Amino acid sequence: MPSSVTVRVPAKVNVQLAVGGRRADGFHGLASVFFAVGLYDEVTVSPADRLTVTVEGADAAHVPADSSNLAARAALLLGARHGVAADVHIHIDKGIPVAGGMAGGSADAAAALVGCDALWGTGSSPAELAGLAAELGSDVPFSLLGGVALGEGRGELLTPVPVGGTFHWVFAVADGGLSTPSVYGECDRLRDLAGGSAEADVPVPAADQALLEALRTGDAGALGAALSNDLQAAALSLRPGLAETLRAGADAGAIGTLVSGSGPTCAFLAKDAATARAIAAALRSSTVCRTAHVAEGPVPGAALMR
Ligand code: C5P
Repeated sequence: MPSSVTVRVPAKVNVQLAVGGRRADGFHGLASVFFAVGLYDEVTVSPADRLTVTVEGADAAHVPADSSNLAARAALLLGARHGVAADVHIHIDKGIPVAGGMAGGSADAAAALVGCDALWGTGSSPAELAGLAAELGSDVPFSLLGGVALGEGRGELLTPVPVGGTFHWVFAVADGGLSTPSVYGECDRLRDLAGGSAEADVPVPAADQALLEALRTGDAGALGAALSNDLQAAALSLRPGLAETLRAGADAGAIGTLVSGSGPTCAFLAKDAATARAIAAALRSSTVCRTAHVAEGPVPGAALMR
């Protein structure tokens, strides 16, 4: 058995997030175009007497360091499937904003699956890992896969999307996170005020063909114009100040702006790398966010590091 294994795993932004009505199981049917960006967590797993979790990074204090951590649950699930005791130490070095709508917890779970599978030599196929990932959460399968993919069902049924170039992003990190269930709940509440939030009341979500074409041709201007997120109104309702953050990014030169997933991180598409750096600098010197990061994408999913 190796003495430790480190896995690097990216954040995601949803370039389209079309949300259907609330299903009988409480989830929402989605047409979600996941896009993996180069902001990373690094997860190291090593043999230990019992399952333990430690976290480092700017937001470490806000990440649970016990068996409720999704990475710990991933180790337990993989171990149970193979009859291996999940006696590992999981160390998470967080570069992805916590509770920010960028799938940071899901990323750590995907990384723990890949890391423990390598540490234990359990040799799971990609399909087996994807099945376990879907049990852990709707976004975990995409964190394994990376690139760009259309997610249907509750987001776990993935189809890779072809992409014709590299896109340049800026992410404005807010003070404090938003809970994903509360943002979906707010989306339902707003829909109830407007006529209904059940499956029958809301159009069936579908991928935006103009957005897929923009991705295929690598056309940043067209992608910027096609960005959409049905959770954005709910995130703005819970955090009205995000409207100012979005405006500041547009004023600084972004060609597309949106809330990332359930927020509160705001995502800005730039026409090139230099403009992305300028937008990030403008946001950092403003009061509309805690900090801002530049990142390119798409990038691959959870991967073992040498
Ligand atoms: O799947 P995951 O555990 O990440 O989902 C967290 C919560 O987000 C769910 O409990 C649900 O409230 C909401 N959700 C949803 N529809 C989805 C995905 C998530 O309502 N497609």
